[in-house]
Amino acid sequence: MEATHEPVMLQEVLELASNAFKNYSIHGSHRVFTVLDGTLGAGGHSLELARAYLQASFFLCDRDEQMVARARANFKASGFNPDDARFRWICSRSSQLGQRLDSEFDNQEGGLDFALLDLGISMLHLKEFDRGFSYDDESLDMRLDTATEKGASHLLNELPEKELADLIYRYGEERASRKIAHRVVQSRPIESARQLAEIIAKAIPGPRNRPHPARKTFQALRIAVNGELEEAEAAARMLAQRLNPGGILAIITFHSLEDRLIKRCFAELCGAGGLHSRYDAPVEIPPDPEFEKALRKSLAPTPEEQERNPASRSARLRAIRRKPSGEAGDE
Ligand SMILES: C[S@@+](CC[C@H](N)C(=O)[O-])C[C@H]1O[C@@H](n2cnc3c(N)ncnc32)[C@H](O)[C@@H]1O
Repeated sequence: MEATHEPVMLQEVLELASNAFKNYSIHGSHRVFTVLDGTLGAGGHSLELARAYLQASFFLCDRDEQMVARARANFKASGFNPDDARFRWICSRSSQLGQRLDSEFDNQEGGLDFALLDLGISMLHLKEFDRGFSYDDESLDMRLDTATEKGASHLLNELPEKELADLIYRYGEERASRKIAHRVVQSRPIESARQLAEIIAKAIPGPRNRPHPARKTFQALRIAVNGELEEAEAAARMLAQRLNPGGILAIITFHSLEDRLIKRCFAELCGAGGLHSRYDAPVEIPPDPEFEKALRKSLAPTPEEQERNPASRSARLRAIRRKPSGEAGDE
């Protein structure tokens, strides 16, 4: 049976899009309302946006070609014609869309009115594709696209023990990283995700009913293999620069490393030096910031959503807006 992915914080995302649309209706209605989904997945958020904005133009992007194909099929099954010119299907890392967007926007007045990044992987990666994301997968790859050269098995079987421990600590915030790396190196070759999960469960047995003891190590490997943090930051900055005045960029993160990164990036863009943690490095503040927060602080899923969809529990939504015309920089 095909796995499904429930879009996380859908109502909150739709509300932000509706704020962007209000601004568009006042200032931009001579052009087309333009939406970009840079982490399309199965198309859950975009389908609802397409239903809500029937005249809008969409850039629909995922770095995983299997996901783009799935989203197209889901659009078709929902009564949309995926070949309609208003849908641009793109298989790319979203950080690399800058040139494409610039050439599209060159010919017409315009930029993005609403952009979304819903970071991480889809339920389909966990439940349907045997690529090593799940604890019982036979493969050990974890690549989200074929342009990525080295998969997880390379890191696990080739990295020196200390480098592997550092990677697990840095991207998984796993305190038992040294113990895990030691066991992994002793057990080489590691050939499947299932074998890796078993090795970790033996190295650091956890209490029953708690998250799987391999959870943080799997997260670390996935992030390292796909350069996820670098990608997220580059995509966020690139998209922010392509927002129309009043346009909104919304980002959903799923773990604290990602969330801290986006919080800091947004603070910098908004000139809000006030990062409150004493652990945060100072932020460079632009003299006349072009952006402002579209949400005062991050939002978490409602308790009802967390109950209905436990995978949403760690989600956090942050959003910024390019200041509407006349409020930033332009005299
Ligand atoms: C959480 S899922 C998105 C789910 C989608 N919003 C939905 O409701 O169906 C994240 C998706 O982003 C893709 N992805 C992750 N990083 C990406 C990047 N840097 N560029 C493009 N796609 C990316 C993954 O392949 C995955 O399909």
